[in-house]
Amino acid sequence: MKLLLLGAGGQLGQAFCQSPFWPGNNSLALNHAQLDITDSKALQQLITAYQPDVVINCAAYTKVALAQQQAELCLQINTNAVVHLAQLCAKAQCLLVQFSTDYVFNGEKGSAYIETDSTAPLNVYGQSKLLAEQAIQQHCQRYLIFRTSWLFSQYGHNFYRTMLTLAEKGTAISVVDDETGCPTYAGDVADAVLKVLAQYNQSDKAQFSYGIYHLASTPAVSWYQFASAIFAAHQLTPVLTAVSSKHWAGGVKRPAYSALNSRAFSTTFGISLPSWQQALTRLSRHRDKGD
Ligand SMILES: NC(=O)c1ccc[n+]([C@@H]2O[C@H](COP(=O)([O-])OP(=O)(O)OC[C@H]3O[C@@H](n4cnc5c(N)ncnc54)[C@H](OP(=O)(O)O)[C@@H]3O)[C@@H](O)[C@H]2O)c1
Repeated sequence: MKLLLLGAGGQLGQAFCQSPFWPGNNSLALNHAQLDITDSKALQQLITAYQPDVVINCAAYTKVALAQQQAELCLQINTNAVVHLAQLCAKAQCLLVQFSTDYVFNGEKGSAYIETDSTAPLNVYGQSKLLAEQAIQQHCQRYLIFRTSWLFSQYGHNFYRTMLTLAEKGTAISVVDDETGCPTYAGDVADAVLKVLAQYNQSDKAQFSYGIYHLASTPAVSWYQFASAIFAAHQLTPVLTAVSSKHWAGGVKRPAYSALNSRAFSTTFGISLPSWQQALTRLSRHRDKGD
């Protein structure tokens, strides 16, 4: 099975490349500098020349607040490029693996979202990701869309790394306590998806369980609770204050409660993600050893 990974330089992209389940041979991983997914000609040439069996798209515009001002750029990367990618994958009969977000929901349900719940994104980023989901469903027969949330890892820009940097600088930290979601370790997502792809490789392609799946760890917590757990795991004791999201004048609305229920993923593929606390413990051990 030939894998093509796009957006390999981002946190999830790096997690795929570092996964013990990543097939070193028979795979091609390209970062932004190597392939701009909005370059439609380059994308077409790549798919035609490489002829992958699976495309894993980790390339995305992920700056949720800035997207409100850069809506056109966000839509170009997260929607238009993915529409084109979906068309190319459909033509090549290749499986498209796409990542989406809890921000397709408005956060008003009050309990964990399942795949069939109504979507109603509150911001441009969420809209751009939802439009991509819809285009993939329209164009592709072979697709897997994984909605994940609050990704953290040792790579790239993420809340976990920001919190550690601020605490180590001795900065007093204010964190939102009225938005709840499911932190999810990028490495666990990559491992789980690669195990699903191993099942796909062995499967009758006409019968495979294509579709949209939620893929996030538990338990659901607020950003403030997540920050507290990060500091506890790393034995850091910064001055930490819980604040309301109204405190941030970012001009972007986010869902108040966007926990994802990942039961459909577990029952379909027989795989469950570890809790985010387990991932945090593993990460903190590596960090303490200086890995
Ligand atoms: N991070 C989260 O909390 C979260 C939550 C839910 C869902 N997701 C989804 O999970 C996926 C992976 O997210 P992530 O956390 O790994 O994001 P990330 O760290 O921001 O990585 C995204 C990567 O895409 C690259 N990229 C941007 N524009 C591109 C383009 N035109 N062509 C090719 N590459 C481009 C970026 O490169 P540059 O840095 O050079 O721009 C970056 O390396 C995305 O689909 C995201 O929407 C993320």
